[in-house]
Amino acid sequence: MDWKDQINLEKLPRHIAVIMDGNGRWAKQHGKPRVFGHRNGVKAVRETTEAAAELGVDFLTLYAFSTENWNRPRIEVNALMTLLVETLRNELDTLNKNNIRLRAIGDVSQLPSRTHKALVEGIENTQNNTRMTLILALNYSAKWEIVEASRRLAQKVAQGQLEVTQIDESVFADALSTAGVPDPELLIRSSGETRLSNFLLWQLAYAEFHFTPIFWPEFRKEHLYKAIVDYQNRERRFGKISEQI
Ligand code: FPP
Repeated sequence: MDWKDQINLEKLPRHIAVIMDGNGRWAKQHGKPRVFGHRNGVKAVRETTEAAAELGVDFLTLYAFSTENWNRPRIEVNALMTLLVETLRNELDTLNKNNIRLRAIGDVSQLPSRTHKALVEGIENTQNNTRMTLILALNYSAKWEIVEASRRLAQKVAQGQLEVTQIDESVFADALSTAGVPDPELLIRSSGETRLSNFLLWQLAYAEFHFTPIFWPEFRKEHLYKAIVDYQNRERRFGKISEQI
C-alpha cells in the first residue's frame, strides 16, 4: 500500500509548515553550484503545494528565506531573489487554476523591489482564492516576529487602546504575522537537519515534527504523504495522559 492510501482524510493537519533544506548539499552532490539546487527546489515546491491542495490541507507555510540568509554570498542571495520573481510570475496561473491563495510572512518590505513587486502582485492576484492558502516565509525569523508583535502591543497600550491585563495568548497570537491562521500541527524539515532555525517558534509550540533525510530538490508528493502518515500515527496529548484522550 502506498503512503497516500494510508492517510486518514478525516484527520488531516489543517496547516503544514515546511523548512525546505538541503538545496546546496544536493547541488554539491551533483557537482553544480548551489543555485542549481535552489532551481531544482522549485519542482519540490510545486509538488508539495499540489499534493497538499489535492488532499485538502488548508494552509501550507514554506520557509523560503530567513533574515539570516542575507549573510550568504551575494551571488547566491541575488540568484534566490531572481528565482523568487521568476517562480512567482511563472506559477501565478497555476495558483489561480488551483484556487490557491498566496500570502507572505516576514519583513517583506526589505526585499529587493522587484521581488517585493512580484510578491505583492501574486498576493493581490490570488486574494479571492479559497481552496488552500500558501504562505511564503520571506525575510522571516520568529524572534523578529515576536519582537514586532510585542512592539505593536506596547504601542497600543501606550496609546490607551489596550490594557496590559487584556494581553493573553489569543491577543498575542493576533499580533503575530500569522494572525487568523491556525497553528501548524505538522512541521517537516528536509535534509536530515533537526533544528528549528528561528521558524514559527510561537506557532509550533504543539506541532509534531517530521524530519526526513531527503534533500529538498528530491522532495516529492510521496514524502509529504509519508510525513502525514507519521503525524497521524503520533498520539497528541497536549500535556494530558493517554487515558484522558
Ligand atoms: C535551503 O537549502 C533552501 C533555501 C534557503 C531556499 C529555498 C528556496 C527555494 C526552494 C526556491 C524557490 C522557493 C519558492 C517558495 C518560490 P540550503 O541552501 O540551506 O541547503 P544546504 O543546507 O544544503 O546548504
